[in-house]
Order: sequence, then C-alpha cells, then structure tokens
Amino acid sequence: MTEQALPPISLDLRAQVAVVTGAAQGIGRACALLLAAHGAVVIVADRNPALAADVAAEAIAAGGRAEPLALDVANEAQIVAGFAAVAARHGRITALVNAAGVISPNVPADQAEGDDFDRVISVNLKGTMLCGKHAAKQMLGAGGGRIVNIASQAALLSLPNQSLYTASKGGVVALTRSQAIDWASHGINVNCICPTFIRTPMAEPMLQDPAVLRAVTRRIPLGRVGEPRDIAATALFLISEMASLMTGQTLAVDGGWSAGEPGLDIR
Ligand SMILES: NC(=O)c1ccc[n+]([C@@H]2O[C@H](COP(=O)([O-])OP(=O)(O)OC[C@H]3O[C@@H](n4cnc5c(N)ncnc54)[C@H](O)[C@@H]3O)[C@@H](O)[C@H]2O)c1
Repeated sequence: MTEQALPPISLDLRAQVAVVTGAAQGIGRACALLLAAHGAVVIVADRNPALAADVAAEAIAAGGRAEPLALDVANEAQIVAGFAAVAARHGRITALVNAAGVISPNVPADQAEGDDFDRVISVNLKGTMLCGKHAAKQMLGAGGGRIVNIASQAALLSLPNQSLYTASKGGVVALTRSQAIDWASHGINVNCICPTFIRTPMAEPMLQDPAVLRAVTRRIPLGRVGEPRDIAATALFLISEMASLMTGQTLAVDGGWSAGEPGLDIR
C-alpha cells in the first residue's frame, strides 16, 4: 500500500479497555476522562473509591463508558482480583496508565528515612511494576496492548531534598525499558512520561507559594507549569495507533525543563 492510500491515523479508542490507576484526581483523573472521551471503557482505579466513583460518573455524564475500582496498587492480591473482575466484565485489559503516586518528605538525603523509602517505593515503583505485570498477563498472547507509566522530570534532573521520590521515579524509567524489551515480541508497548510541575492536588500546595511558582515558571522554558490535560494528551498519543512503533521510551512533558536552563545570564 502506498502512503497516499493509507487511511488517516485514528484516535478512536472504542476497542480499548483501559485501567487508569490514581485516577480519582490530578493526572490520573485527566487521563481517565480523556480516554473515555475517545471511546475507551475506562476503569477508574484508586485507593480512594468515593472520588473514583465521582470521576467515573463524570465520564459517563460526558457520554463515556467508565466504572470505579477500589485499588491499592501496593497490594498485589487486590490487583489480581481487581484486574480479573475487569476481564470478566469487559474482556481483557488492553491499556494501562500507571498514574498512582505519592511524594516523600522534603528533606536532604542525609535525613531521608527508611520507612519513607519503603512507602514511596511500594506505591511509585512496586505498584507500577505489579500493575504492569498483571495487565501484561492479559495482553500476552492475546494481541498485545499499551502501558503508560507516569514517572517525573525528577528522574531526569534532580531537585533538592527529594532523593526518595527521585529514586522511585528513576526506577520507573528503567522498569519501563525492561518491560518494553521483555514484552515487545508480544505486541505490548511500554512507554513512560516525565511531567514537570503539573497543577494537581499533589503539587498545588507547593505552587500556591508565589516564590515557588515564580521560580518554577522561570525555570520552565515555555514559561508555564503544566495542566493535567497536558499529560493526558501524551498518554492518549501513546495509547493510540500514532505511537505503534514506540516502546521503551521516556517522553519529557516538561515545557523544556530538561532541555536546559533558560535563565542563565550568558552573553
Ligand atoms: N503533579 C505533578 O507536578 C507531578 C509531576 C511529575 C510527576 N507526577 C506524577 O504523576 C502521578 C500523578 O500525580 P498527581 O499530581 O496527579 O497526584 P495526586 O496526589 O493529585 O493524585 C494521585 C492519585 O493517586 C492515588 N494513589 C496514591 N497512592 C495510591 C495507591 N497506593 N493505590 C492507588 N491509588 C493511589 C491517590 O488517591 C490520588 O487519587 C504521580 O505518579 C506523580 O508522582 C506528578
């Protein structure tokens, strides 16, 4: 077939059954709503079931298909049971967005605590690993699927006082590459998004400090912090047929943060 004869690339996700973790608010919520708006059946998975139900209702009110799933991503038994229930109701999971995440206390590395390390790693890294593993089990030998992991720009360039969070997100970037290689021959694409500061309940308390907002905005070459939809749009791209030849990749959606320092006074 010549290029001219090919049909337009589609963002139609009506054949997709997509689990989005951490979908009760923030980035996960935006991903859930956008994927539902593009036709996917969306499973709004979160450890906060009341808020997850609200998001599912919002997607349905907008004409989409969605349902909540109470899920702690650090609990493998819950993942196994929850994902089996999704398969029983909707057929197999075809897409997964791992957006559940937590931050660590803002302290210098010499004051970081082992208990905080365990908590942050268990959600951000182990949760991403376990959800990917059990979603992949429904994709292996069944036509493949798409997995999108949400890491952070912190995995690319460190911020002060966030060693535990940074370590967890660096792990997500490396895990993405490994899963991609292990599952590529089964048609499973695994990619990763590294957002800059995004206006969500997680980041809003920091951004409400005018000095922090000023410093962060100055540091971002495009001159603004992100909105949850900026990340949801990239997740949509990675799940759509547009990204069919991409796997194991890390996309910085950071307004140019990782491209360089815009404020250096060099003439
Ligand atoms: N907001 C930012 O500036 C920013 C920047 C870079 C990366 N990120 C990453 O993006 C992802 C989403 O962040 P956000 O800003 O939307 O955060 P958020 O705190 O606003 O939302 C996170 C959601 O994850 C859920 N969650 C937390 N632990 C869970 C668990 N164990 N099981 C299931 N659900 C759980 C929470 O209930 C919440 O609904 C996180 O992985 C975060 O690290 C955020």
